[in-house]
Amino acid sequence: MQLKSLHNFFQNGLIGYYPKEEINAFFYRICEQHFDYKRIDVHLKSETLISAETFEYFETLISRLLTYEPIQYILGTTSFFGLEFKVDDNVLIPRPETEELVAWILKQTDSSQALKILDIGTGSGCIAISLAKHLPNAMVYALDVSPAALKIAQHNAQHNAVQLKCIEADILEWTTAAHAFDIIVSNPPYVREREKERMAPNVLEHEPHLALFVENDNPLIFYKAIVGLSKINLKKEGFVYFEINEYLGEDTKALFSSTDFDDLQLKTDIFGKHRMIRATKR
Ligand SMILES: C[S@@+](CC[C@H](N)C(=O)[O-])C[C@H]1O[C@@H](n2cnc3c(N)ncnc32)[C@H](O)[C@@H]1O
Repeated sequence: MQLKSLHNFFQNGLIGYYPKEEINAFFYRICEQHFDYKRIDVHLKSETLISAETFEYFETLISRLLTYEPIQYILGTTSFFGLEFKVDDNVLIPRPETEELVAWILKQTDSSQALKILDIGTGSGCIAISLAKHLPNAMVYALDVSPAALKIAQHNAQHNAVQLKCIEADILEWTTAAHAFDIIVSNPPYVREREKERMAPNVLEHEPHLALFVENDNPLIFYKAIVGLSKINLKKEGFVYFEINEYLGEDTKALFSSTDFDDLQLKTDIFGKHRMIRATKR
């Protein structure tokens, strides 16, 4: 079989489950990882002969994609902020909106300073590692309750040649002496159980619920805990940055008391949705 026939076989196997453009995007991505072919090579080398093992590999990929398993988990990697990250079903797949959060922090941070930064709910380590990469003088701490996630974050730190200090802890119970961080950042779980019905099966059935969901009647539980610990563990004029639930922008803002924080900035995305917030410690 030639590569072009494999391409047809792959498309036919997934049509009806995904839009055609997405199927092609999967195919190009797999070819890049498996053959080291760029998109153009897939067409220029369309007559390449495919081995029986490769064909079987593609059959396996199709059957996994038919269950809506995310392509990032199947291939084991994703990219975030121009860096490569290992991912598996112990960690959330990093999202583009989180890249915006990292870009916002970097825009407002002096990269020459020796900062102390804490990323809470680090997952794959995407926020912590991207910050460490662009802030070479910073000491970056990455906290998560999941040991499996921290193992991946540590792997990703090594892969991207940065240092991370990993902390395994439950943020809802973490009691610590004053740490004096310059920046505390978090993209904590914030999807209410009742928002589940709007979620796609690739997220709902494959990504870790520990990373996603909060109870309907206490959706800001993580934000409350982090604002509380920021009062003690953030330096004067240090910053808290959050990615937030787009429906709870004003409620999240209200958690920051004016006695402890000022200069609150709620940031919207291009669709006018509340996506992130920053507060400065008094
Ligand atoms: C929305 S994910 C964010 C992952 C990553 N920072 C990102 O932006 O892609 C939330 C993370 O919080 C972690 N988490 C959930 N409950 C926690 C808790 N009680 N204490 C600490 N981390 C927790 C999850 O394991 C998960 O990695």
